[in-house]
Amino acid sequence: MRTLIFATNNQNKVNEIRKVTEGKFNIITLKEAGIDIDIPEPHDTLEANATEKSTVIYQLTKQDVFSEDTGLEVVALNGEPGVKSARYAGEGRDFQANVDLLLLNLDGITNRQAQFRTVVSLLLDGKEYLFEGICTGTIISEQRGRQGFGYDPVFIPEGSTKTFAEMTMNEKNIFSHRKKAISKLIDFLAQV
Ligand code: IMP
Repeated sequence: MRTLIFATNNQNKVNEIRKVTEGKFNIITLKEAGIDIDIPEPHDTLEANATEKSTVIYQLTKQDVFSEDTGLEVVALNGEPGVKSARYAGEGRDFQANVDLLLLNLDGITNRQAQFRTVVSLLLDGKEYLFEGICTGTIISEQRGRQGFGYDPVFIPEGSTKTFAEMTMNEKNIFSHRKKAISKLIDFLAQV
């Protein structure tokens, strides 16, 4: 089976992706690869940040690697927080501060449409391939559920009545942006 490094320090992402890649390819996390760096996300697009993450790790290891960058794009906020989703409430702020600011900025707004968008960058033998996954849904005005991470407690995917934070990981993966992008990666790897 093929082995890829997953260029992330986010254990939630590792857990979600391992669920869908079991039996398809092996994933080595940065920690398992003995790499202890905070990978920068300096760019203003998900694509450029994903490329940056996989490239930094490829240059260090010369091994096949993939990364992903995800943003929550809210229609009434002109696509924000988008690429700044992790730092929406400021550098070093946590998930809760970001969710609080999002709810504040949507206070009184009736259009609650939003989407999660994931871009995966794969570097295979040094050549890059990009894959996208989108999950549309709505932002509710209170927080529900304790699973998942980030904006999960306020996001209900289209076709569900539960927030992502009220779902098991398997349930989230029925709808998930990340699962959709990774499924494209799996299909691609099956062909090369
Ligand atoms: P990044 O891809 O690590 O830059 O993620 C940006 C931010 O988006 C994270 O810190 C989370 O707040 C949020 N995020 C990414 N993926 C998800 C998800 O699947 N559910 C909820 N929030 C997410």
